[in-house]
Amino acid sequence: MGLFKNYVSQTRKPEGVLGKMMLNGMNSGHAKMADWGISHLKGIKPAQIAELGCGGGRNAGALLEKYPSANITAIDYSPISVEKAREYNADMIRAERCKVHQGDVSALNLPKESFELATAFETIYFWPDLEKCFAQVAGILKSGGIFMIVNESDGTDKASLQFEKIIDGMKCYTPQQIESALMAAGFSAVKTNHHADKPWITVIAKK
Ligand SMILES: C[S@@+](CC[C@H](N)C(=O)[O-])C[C@H]1O[C@@H](n2cnc3c(N)ncnc32)[C@H](O)[C@@H]1O
Repeated sequence: MGLFKNYVSQTRKPEGVLGKMMLNGMNSGHAKMADWGISHLKGIKPAQIAELGCGGGRNAGALLEKYPSANITAIDYSPISVEKAREYNADMIRAERCKVHQGDVSALNLPKESFELATAFETIYFWPDLEKCFAQVAGILKSGGIFMIVNESDGTDKASLQFEKIIDGMKCYTPQQIESALMAAGFSAVKTNHHADKPWITVIAKK
């Protein structure tokens, strides 16, 4: 595998030295887009948040800042993502507001019907069966709970479709594809916001 392919493939499941570099890069590189996504969360006051595919943990920290009385459980199936997210959120872990666990969204090891908010930033591209994984998310949300997906690809932009060709197992979805999978998994009130100038999307759905 060439170095470029190896490096960009670290977005799927960070591993080793390149994975550590990628996690640092994603924490800073995704911040603007993640904050744009988070700005769409309005009128809710979650007590328990699940951050799925948390990578280096920066967005878990941003959610804890936005919701000062919330606790967060962040999960990722990559051991080095878990390690980095724990390091990034060390103060919040000490304050008992943050837990980071290794876990796979296709078989979530989180308590059922326990969260008011679940979030997924830049990660659903790699989830193995969207509808099945969304059903797992529905299972951990309380009734009326919110699921927010934030992607920098709207499934049609050239750059992301190039990455889709390079990174094994990556799939860029259109808002329509995401919305259908959410509805099939039992979500309702699905709403997509598209950034005015970029291919960024935020999809919010209610259980
Ligand atoms: C592109 S990174 C995004 C990380 C972070 N959410 C961000 O926005 O910077 C994708 C992350 O999702 C994780 N991931 C992918 N598939 C997953 C799955 N099935 N279960 C848990 N984590 C997963 C990867 O290990 C990786 O850390």
